[in-house]
Amino acid sequence: MRQHQIVLLPGDGIGPEITSVTKKLLEAVSQKHGFQLVLQEQLFGGKAIQSEGSPLPPKTLKACQESDAVLLAAIGDPIFDDLPREKRPETGLLELRAGLNLFANLRPVKVWPALVEASSLKPNVIKDVDLLVVRELTGGIYFGQPKGKVFTEDGARAFNTMTYSEKEIERIAKVAFKVAEKRRRKVCSVDKANVLDVSQLWRDQVEVIAKNHQTIELSHLYVDNAAMQLVKEPSQFDVILTSNLFGDILSDEAAMLTGSIGMLPSASLSEKGPGLFEPVHGSAPDIAGMDKANPIAMVLSAAMMLKIGLNEKEAGEALEQAVEKVLNIGYRTCDFREESSTQLGCSQMGSKILEALLDS
Ligand code: IPM
Ligand code: MG
Repeated sequence: MRQHQIVLLPGDGIGPEITSVTKKLLEAVSQKHGFQLVLQEQLFGGKAIQSEGSPLPPKTLKACQESDAVLLAAIGDPIFDDLPREKRPETGLLELRAGLNLFANLRPVKVWPALVEASSLKPNVIKDVDLLVVRELTGGIYFGQPKGKVFTEDGARAFNTMTYSEKEIERIAKVAFKVAEKRRRKVCSVDKANVLDVSQLWRDQVEVIAKNHQTIELSHLYVDNAAMQLVKEPSQFDVILTSNLFGDILSDEAAMLTGSIGMLPSASLSEKGPGLFEPVHGSAPDIAGMDKANPIAMVLSAAMMLKIGLNEKEAGEALEQAVEKVLNIGYRTCDFREESSTQLGCSQMGSKILEALLDS
């Protein structure tokens, strides 16, 4: 029987609740499709700070590096905000991305027919939205040197560096062009080349790579205009290619087109080696432990893991179809405020998805 080694990182806040739902679904779908998932849980984020003193203990990183794929729920809690930066949960996430060389972050944003009324935008604006943000994930201002804080006569000054090399731009641009080939063949590269030198290099290098992908329609937008276009006419986008910081911001904005950030999965990939699959949302400490969280983003992240990370396409699609069925019936978690829907808690939502999966 085919066997895949998975590291599960439940993390903080709502993480353990959505993980427990996803675990049951993964067990069911693997059984149904004739393969075995060996799930191994590891400490990560705030939980790891509390018990190991570090957000990414060496043991966790090693297990991830040796796995076939990593599935992460969410990390972070305001109780860690006063710790030095290197001890915060978010730093653990950046170290994990760097440690697995996950330079390509794919964040698909698709409006589900059952949810067109749930968005804060009008249905006719969002009904055809099906876009993919390809965000560079291990470079740019998140990792650029020099960075730090100095004390001057005029007071403190802090700085970070936004930097990209041609090679870094080339490898992420290639990913965007490649995925666009399987979609609507359009890439919109987003930068701030009217102001930033680093963005001018980005734009020039994307143009160079585009020469080898003549069948793809390439356009460029400045990031401020891209932010505006995303709410004005989001259906114009197919693949959005952008840098680490701009991708962070635009992917949250794009997420809201779907009505809730609780719906959005993501995949972070390297050239070879295990990928990391995680919801776009955070750990929502305000509702942690209350059985209110929406588990769907994590379930869809697990589906991405099956399809992209483990080559178990049918199983991944089965999970997605089960989610769609449940949404079509009108079941919702409390992040949606539609009057006609039936409100469920996190674990009940999981049971409904499981029923739909076993029923298919
Ligand atoms: C994301 C998150 C992270 C990021 C944080 C938690 C470090 O916002 O994955 O979008 O900024 O990349
Ligand atoms: Mg973000």
